[in-house]
Amino acid sequence: MWDAIWLNGRLATMVEGSVPYGAIDDAVIATEDGRIAWLGRRGDLAGEPHTLARDVHDLAGRWLTPGLIDCHTHLVYGGDRAREFAQRLEGASYAEIARAGGGIVSTVAATRAADEETLFAAARRRLSALLAEGVTTVEVKSGYGLNLEGELKQLRVARRLGTEMPVTVRTTFLGAHALPPEFADRADAYIDAVVAMIPEVKASGLADAVDAFCEGIGFTPEQTARVFAAATEQGLPVKLHADQLSDLGGAALAAGHSALSADHLEYTSNDGVAAMAAAGTVAVLLPGAFYFLRETKLPPIGALRAAGVPMAIATDCNPGSAPLTSLLLVLNMACTLFRLTPEEALTGITRHAARALGLSDRCGMLEVGKAADFAIWDIDDPAELAYRIGFNPLAYAVKGGAILSS
Ligand code: NIG
Ligand code: FE
Repeated sequence: MWDAIWLNGRLATMVEGSVPYGAIDDAVIATEDGRIAWLGRRGDLAGEPHTLARDVHDLAGRWLTPGLIDCHTHLVYGGDRAREFAQRLEGASYAEIARAGGGIVSTVAATRAADEETLFAAARRRLSALLAEGVTTVEVKSGYGLNLEGELKQLRVARRLGTEMPVTVRTTFLGAHALPPEFADRADAYIDAVVAMIPEVKASGLADAVDAFCEGIGFTPEQTARVFAAATEQGLPVKLHADQLSDLGGAALAAGHSALSADHLEYTSNDGVAAMAAAGTVAVLLPGAFYFLRETKLPPIGALRAAGVPMAIATDCNPGSAPLTSLLLVLNMACTLFRLTPEEALTGITRHAARALGLSDRCGMLEVGKAADFAIWDIDDPAELAYRIGFNPLAYAVKGGAILSS
């Protein structure tokens, strides 16, 4: 006897194949112990639904997709940067503000000053906005503590979000995000400190991966490589903020370390794309940051597509470059700004997002054995998810087989 069965719907399984969205019409999906136990056409069901499952739900023709995955966020932080936004509108660039001691470092000051309860309350509100659109898995980075205590504080808050809210949280240690003021002009010494933090972060069990910001206003490729080596030694997978504002060869560097993903990629060269394809590194595109920074250089979408690099998309939710808590809006931006197809965009917040987090075996597709994490939509075509702007067609979400109130 299954725990539950959903009938009378259309499934976007997101399994790669000949049918768009891996769609199954007049479909049934069954769950047991938080996982998908069976799915297929109603006609192939071996009996009457109420004899097969304890609970029977009618989808009434709605679409059911995998629960959405936001695979790149900086959700936990103190303060905001609304004044910096105003400065940028008056002509200052993101990099200029950072060099003048604003930017990431100003959020570091606010995050260090905030207690865990305050950070949790603010992050929970942002996460609630994501969950209201069917997100069931989210990645959360540190990077606003920039010392062991501050980084662990952020990571603890991130883990707590995953225990108190109906969402899977994957955490990423981003100690090499910016140079803290106490290390001014001593970037190599700060990287020594980050390298020394990594075993402690690993021992804490609070991080699932390690990230860095390889950029003129971040860290050099050499410094980044030292962080990656330390992560690899601890058995932690790596990812990278790569080629966001300039081409430092970040994509190829990440690929050379078998990174799960290289993210941003506006300035990535063809060599970087080829290296990612060879390594199987996912391209995480962040159209919200592109939009909010009023960037004009597009990531090499055509080259990524031609090389078969899996493309994920994410909010990059953070106070500086993307104060954004709508994954559906990102879906629209990925199509309008980056010219992804609606199917590529939806794949980018399901199958490919799971891969960017190393979770391909657990979520991102509707398949027997995968988590029973679903989003159920009042739409007639999956392309509607990317098409509308500022409209939420979620009927309800299911996390680990349990229906969440909408
Ligand atoms: O992904 N580029 C570096 N990190 C973030 C921005 C963080 C911030 O500005 O606070 C990003 O864009
Ligand atoms: Fe980011």
